[in-house]
Amino acid sequence: MFGKERQRQILAYLNKHERATVNQLAILFSVSKETIRNDLNLLAEQGVVERCHGGAIILRRIFHSQPVNNVGISIEKFLNQVNRRKHSMINKKGKLMISKICILGSFNVDIIAKVDRFPKSGESILASNTIIGPGGKGANQAMAASKCPVQVHFVGKVGNDHFGQMAHDHLSSSDIRSFTLYQDEEHKTGSAIIYVSEPAGENKIAIYSGANQYITEAEVASIAGELADAKIFLTQLENNFEATALALNMAHRSGVKTILNPAPYSDRAKECLQYVDYLTPNETEASLMSGVEINDIESAKEAAQIIKSLGAKNIIITMGSQGALIYDGEQFIHIPALKAVSIDTTGAGDAFNGAFAAAIAQGQPLLSAAKFASAFASLAVEREGASNMPEYEAVLSRLAQYERK
Ligand code: RIB
Repeated sequence: MFGKERQRQILAYLNKHERATVNQLAILFSVSKETIRNDLNLLAEQGVVERCHGGAIILRRIFHSQPVNNVGISIEKFLNQVNRRKHSMINKKGKLMISKICILGSFNVDIIAKVDRFPKSGESILASNTIIGPGGKGANQAMAASKCPVQVHFVGKVGNDHFGQMAHDHLSSSDIRSFTLYQDEEHKTGSAIIYVSEPAGENKIAIYSGANQYITEAEVASIAGELADAKIFLTQLENNFEATALALNMAHRSGVKTILNPAPYSDRAKECLQYVDYLTPNETEASLMSGVEINDIESAKEAAQIIKSLGAKNIIITMGSQGALIYDGEQFIHIPALKAVSIDTTGAGDAFNGAFAAAIAQGQPLLSAAKFASAFASLAVEREGASNMPEYEAVLSRLAQYERK
């Protein structure tokens, strides 16, 4: 077997088993340990594996440039796999040992224009700056969660183009522990044109979804292992709805708690609310879903009750400067927003969702998780760029503001 083919097979093996020793691989491929060490060093240089002490290695980065074969989906088969994996991760007290989050979502390249005010129809205005950077609600949420003490696995799809390479570089250089990035040969990587108005950091966004909309059922099925290992599954609505709904269904049926951030809003979200443990709309999305125009806490409560009746277990409506409203079916809790010097609100919802998922994965109760997420988001709006997330320690200091309230 040629070196390249062996290295491809080593990656496939690691994709399935997460780690292996040099010895195991040498036996598996009938080559010397020295040959395997050379292969691993090469793969490590490419940033797709991480060497660790004792010759064992951990797979960190997965880049699927080949389409996944259409293997067909058997939910029963998936559940069997889940139960086997869960069993091996449970300690003597019956508790899951690792807080791991799996996020299925979008990657976009954001093209941002900083303006004094938004242009009127037909008007040309000058921007004070333009910035091109990584974005996409899914990838931003993964960035946020990765700042917290949890392991994050991100799953997304990009095109075979320069922006797709940007996605790979961005994820590789982040704290996201591992990712599965599918590559579409026909469709371009998603992109978003964003105006950010400088006085208040408000934004207007137009998204071209591109490859994000072409995740296949087979590709969702092939992340079964990552889903099975996770405590929390988080997703949004920037991918094709079928893939999102299938992943939510798989997570729900395997006992993984699910979070759906219904953004950008689609009425189809209602079709999968029975699989959702935590629904996190902003006030606009909650208004669209419930038919109640939200303009204060009372109308938000009314909307939350209607959404609850549609099937979601817990509803957390984020309301910008009005804070957030939590409804678990029994009681409403309103948490006020923390003071922030807003520079760029793009990605504030993503910051909230990623941080919320991390806190829930760590076992925090709903109220503390929402407070942590609010503190996280309040720091995120003080930074430029949708994927530019604050450090965990800074969030803990900001969180102390709640104690003083
Ligand atoms: O939530 C902000 C994100 O929405 C941006 O990064 C943009 O890419 C769009 O997906």
